[in-house]
Amino acid sequence: MSKTTSSLLAILLAVGTMVSTASADIKKGQKAYLKTCKNCHGNGTKGAAMHTQDEWEELFANGGAKIVKAHAKDKSSAFFNGDGFKSQAQDLRDFLFEYGSDSGNVPTC
Ligand code: HEC
Repeated sequence: MSKTTSSLLAILLAVGTMVSTASADIKKGQKAYLKTCKNCHGNGTKGAAMHTQDEWEELFANGGAKIVKAHAKDKSSAFFNGDGFKSQAQDLRDFLFEYGSDSGNVPTC
């Protein structure tokens, strides 16, 4: 293998890794959504379309203060106030934001 070919490969590998890392969180968030939210809010398409991207940004600001508050009186409040939500909030935000009602993107779930 020539020197040029191998450095080209190295660049391709690096770019490929970056791309898959960027979309991994959305995939993770989608999984978390289907596991945790689907029962009450419907499939991912419906769930993400509840809000625009700006609104999702707001709901998940300050550690998700608004979305936690929205569930305060619901039986899901234990999840929202526990470690489960804390560890998944970022991924959930990424998924819901990516497919927000004004995003033009539609998830396949
Ligand atoms: C056990 C049922 C239940 C689960 C699980 C649940 N929710 Fe909710 N959610 C509700 C109820 C009830 C409300 C408050 C009533 C309403 O506004 O529809 C609510 C409110 C909301 C709101 C604000 C309402 C609005 O449209 O402004 C959002 C956003 C939301 N939920 C997203 C989620 C997400 C994301 C998850 C998963 C991490 C989730 N919910 C899990 C029942 C649930």
